[in-house]
Amino acid sequence: MKEKITISDIIQKKGKEKIVAITCYDALIAEIEDKIGFDIILVGDSVSNTLLGNEDTLRIGMDEMIIFAKAVSKKAKRALLVGDMPFASFQISKEEALKNALRFIKEGYMDAVKIEGGREFSETIKYIVKSGIPVMGHIGLLPQFYLSYGFKVKGKKEEREKLLEDAKILEESGVFAIVLEGIYEDVAKEITESLKIPTIGIGAGRFCDGQILVVYDILGLTPPPYPKFVKNYSNLREIIEKALLEYKEEVMSGKYPEEKHIY
Ligand code: KIV
Repeated sequence: MKEKITISDIIQKKGKEKIVAITCYDALIAEIEDKIGFDIILVGDSVSNTLLGNEDTLRIGMDEMIIFAKAVSKKAKRALLVGDMPFASFQISKEEALKNALRFIKEGYMDAVKIEGGREFSETIKYIVKSGIPVMGHIGLLPQFYLSYGFKVKGKKEEREKLLEDAKILEESGVFAIVLEGIYEDVAKEITESLKIPTIGIGAGRFCDGQILVVYDILGLTPPPYPKFVKNYSNLREIIEKALLEYKEEVMSGKYPEEKHIY
């Protein structure tokens, strides 16, 4: 398998080969993901409402994100590693945003950062890119901004024009790719065709240059109900429950430990 994936590898895939991205938050799964050969591993702020049990992605900060980034970077050596800038880490000032982006690179060993939001953050994105840190954009349904805009799929009427403009502005600001989340398929297709950089869809249909999903949704570890775009490729909840129940029953019945487990 090819050595470390670079930003230019990702950009060059546009129109040629689908980009496959996935989230990750720990070293054990990072090792498996890297062995399979994902292009991009995102240490997403979805760690907040999955692993950490929070209700949303607003209640996680830089210190926690760095712990997960460090764990992933220890075992994922090939994929392009992207650290998700958490809520409140990039809104206060572009200087503060750069400071936090630098932490992802220096402490978390990430290769790039992701920022949720459109034109409002274009100056911040330019500032970070100019400082030598690759940035991934993220537009459409923005979980970090649900208090203001809710959790609605985007792309109806006047939203369509704004999304197309935002994507262009982000491209001009220097992002190397854009996550399109919760966007009607026809609009995501139009955005994808209008850009030179790749789009990575999540709930944005079939015509994006790549796809990303939350790893625990793919594995069926997060509890249902799932958003429409999620496909479970396993039912880890059931598998784990069965194994743990068996362990509990064997301890209670004295079946475990057996002869071979004894010193
Ligand atoms: O944090 C996250 O999981 C994301 C998605 C785009 C996958 O930002």
